[in-house]
Amino acid sequence: CEDPRIERISKAIRVIPDFPKPGIKFQDITTLLLDHKAFQDTIDIFVERFKDKNITVVAGVEARGFIFGPPIALALGAKFIPLRKPKKLPGEVIFEEYVLEYGSDRLEMHVGAVETGDRALVVDDLIATGGTLCAAINLLERAGAEVLECACIIELPELKGRARLAGKPLFILIEAD
Ligand code: PRP
Repeated sequence: CEDPRIERISKAIRVIPDFPKPGIKFQDITTLLLDHKAFQDTIDIFVERFKDKNITVVAGVEARGFIFGPPIALALGAKFIPLRKPKKLPGEVIFEEYVLEYGSDRLEMHVGAVETGDRALVVDDLIATGGTLCAAINLLERAGAEVLECACIIELPELKGRARLAGKPLFILIEAD
C-alpha cells in the first residue's frame, strides 16, 4: 500500500495549466517547498530508498534537481554534482544534447567531478520524455560512473520517458498526466 506521506506531497504540488505554453500542465514544485513537512518527507523517502546502496555521487539536473539533490547527497554522505544548462559551468566540460517536451537543450558536467567507479544517483523533479535523464545518464557513464538509479518526484507516464533510460531503474513518488 502507498506511503501515507505521498498524499501530502502530491497535494502540495501546484498544477498550472498552459505554462509555459498552451496545452502543458506545469507541475510546480515551488509550492511543495513552502510546506516544510512535505518537503522533508520528500527528501526522507528518497534517503530511505537509497541509504544502503553505497551511492557516492548524487547528480542533480538544473534547475530543480539543484533543490532536491543536495539534501539527499548530504544525508547519504555522497558528493553532489550539478548538471547544468550550456555555458554556466566555468571549468572544462563534457556535454550531451537532448530533446525536451518543449524545445531542445544540452546538459554539461565538469570534467573531473566524477571518478571512475563512482556509484551515481540522478535526481530531478520530473520526468516527461526522459530526454534530460537520458543525457544525464550518458554524461555520468562517459565519465566512468555507474548510474544505479534515477529518482524524480513526478512522472508523466503517458510520455513513456522511462523507456529512454537505458534500462536504469526509475524511482518516482507521483504519477501525473
Ligand atoms: C523540466 C524538468 C526536467 C525536464 C524533464 O525542466 O524539470 O528537468 O524538464 O523533461 P524531459 O523528461 O522531457 O527531458 P526544464 O527543461 O523545464 O528546465 P528548467 O528546470 O531549467 O526550467
